[in-house]
Amino acid sequence: MVKIAVAGGSGQVAQEVIDALLDTGKHEITILSRNEASIKDVPAGIRWRVVNYNDQPDLVDALQGIHTLFSFVQLLLDPEGMSQKILIDAAIAAGVKRFAPSEYGSAGTTNMPWWAGKESTRDYLRKVNGNEKVLEYIVFQPGLFLDYLAFPYKTAKHIDPLQSVFDYHNCRAIVVNGHEDAIMTLTTAADVAAIVAQAVDYKGEWPETGGIRGNRVTFSEVIKIGEKIRGRPFTIEKVNLEDLEAGTLNTPWALAERHRAISEEQHDHFAKMVSIGILLSSAKGAWDVSDELNQLFPEYNFDKVEDFLTRVWNGKQ
Ligand SMILES: NC(=O)c1ccc[n+]([C@@H]2O[C@H](COP(=O)([O-])OP(=O)(O)OC[C@H]3O[C@@H](n4cnc5c(N)ncnc54)[C@H](OP(=O)(O)O)[C@@H]3O)[C@@H](O)[C@H]2O)c1
Repeated sequence: MVKIAVAGGSGQVAQEVIDALLDTGKHEITILSRNEASIKDVPAGIRWRVVNYNDQPDLVDALQGIHTLFSFVQLLLDPEGMSQKILIDAAIAAGVKRFAPSEYGSAGTTNMPWWAGKESTRDYLRKVNGNEKVLEYIVFQPGLFLDYLAFPYKTAKHIDPLQSVFDYHNCRAIVVNGHEDAIMTLTTAADVAAIVAQAVDYKGEWPETGGIRGNRVTFSEVIKIGEKIRGRPFTIEKVNLEDLEAGTLNTPWALAERHRAISEEQHDHFAKMVSIGILLSSAKGAWDVSDELNQLFPEYNFDKVEDFLTRVWNGKQ
């Protein structure tokens, strides 16, 4: 049994992971939230502790006796990474053994300014461990959730569907000219949660880079699989790297679905920025994640892109 605290545990990705942790039947879990219980039905056996990220002593108190601390703080609402920085300081002061920052995405963060808080948290973790290791940590990197290629259908229990540059619904995609072989790592939310739960039980020291390679595929392969599953050719928008670098997206469509952390006024700007950022960063290799967790748990079978999406799209128009 491990005592686990989950900062931002009311959030969508957190709840997938909490379910997987609960399934093990082993751990004592406390959700740290800025608010009174917001999840309609807090699962039995879960404690809920209201915390204030501006009050470090309060956080230190909340973390007393905690072995493993997960953060799922929404970086779009904590762009400087301040909440996580204070959380890390509190974790060290409280003697927390292991920490996993709010990551769960790409290896690099180049051209993705909305994830600047991830980069500053990585820097901060390196800094606090500069002289000696005071906090064991892992940066979980599963790539993009494969569930997003099911948009607009919901395939995870808690994570809402979001549109991606691979739009299986409308049989279309956006690709950077000359970078059709750019790598995208795609892992289902269920697999991410299961691997994270296994990592809690892992007795050795966590690797700092926690690559989770559910599927390592090229843009061309994702489109080819889509055309096979959807039974028709995709309309491909080809964009130039130079235009993207200049902030121009010359396509008849961009990501239209609004992220819940983004206001209606911010949406158009944000959608364009994310479309450009995902394309640029993938062309530069940011989504080609490593496979540390695959190596730690070689017996784990990840859902394959084609199997998962065949199940999703079977019988759909
Ligand atoms: N790879 C992918 O495809 C992918 C997809 C989705 C998410 N992610 C990543 O997964 C992580 C979690 O995302 P999510 O979508 O699950 O997040 P979310 O549900 O939008 O938010 C998580 C929690 O963050 C807390 N929070 C919000 N603003 C905060 C602040 N300023 N300070 C402290 N806490 C704050 C809230 O908890 P309280 O209000 O209860 O305090 C919220 O429930 C992020 O790092 C995200 O980038 C990756």
